[in-house]
Amino acid sequence: MLRFAVILFAVITSSTCQKYGCLEGDTHKLKPSPEPNMHECTLYSKSSCCYADFTVQLARSPVIKISNSYWNRCGQLSKPCEDFMKKIECFYRCSPYAARWIHPSYTAAIQSVPLCQNFCDDWYEACKDDSTCVRNWLTDWERDRSGENRCKNKCIQYSEMYTNGTDMCQNMWGKSFKVSKSSCLCLQMNKKDMVAVKYLPSKSSEESSSSSSSSSSSSSSSEERACQKKLLKFKKLKGEEEE
Ligand SMILES: *[C@@H]1O[C@H](CO)[C@@H](O)[C@H](O)[C@H]1NC(C)=O
Repeated sequence: MLRFAVILFAVITSSTCQKYGCLEGDTHKLKPSPEPNMHECTLYSKSSCCYADFTVQLARSPVIKISNSYWNRCGQLSKPCEDFMKKIECFYRCSPYAARWIHPSYTAAIQSVPLCQNFCDDWYEACKDDSTCVRNWLTDWERDRSGENRCKNKCIQYSEMYTNGTDMCQNMWGKSFKVSKSSCLCLQMNKKDMVAVKYLPSKSSEESSSSSSSSSSSSSSSEERACQKKLLKFKKLKGEEEE
């Protein structure tokens, strides 16, 4: 996914009037629309950037490959780990929110999508005993002529490849994701995201606070409070049924 051949093509197609449309990847629609018959990624069925057909290949377990990327190059992923991979794939392919973090020069790619710390920690926990041969899943594969991915390096455990959930989230998909300092203004690929996105600034309006210890500005802390309040309401409404 998010591959460069695709990206090159996508850059050519104009990105004018793209205000929260869809990313410009090979499987993306122009605009999100309802997909009542999704097999997977149903979180986005009310407004989806992928067609229901795309999700068929994600609906089976184990997932062998998506487009021309094999998921099992170091053996089958465990079910819990695979489930997290699916969440990420669903977000990238289907989420109507993804384009808020569109990469400025590669319109098929995302940049600095804020993930919740607990999401990254749970993901790491789910995958730590599984194996992988790439640290960066976008760039570290060898691609054969048909574009299929192969290992260049030997397979090692996730726990050897990444030190912790933060390291994994911020490196596995290049610069696509970052871990948010907030526990509310972040995505965790469930229904709570609908609350969070209301208060999340898109990437462009947010300063890139890379490593410098940025004290939260007054505007972001008021967003934080509003988000927390809304999330509390949301949890009550839902009676904490999910997850
Ligand atoms: C996670 O690992 C990084 C190094 O890759 C380290 O800087 C950071 O402190 C670690 N975080 C935690 C919570 O252990």
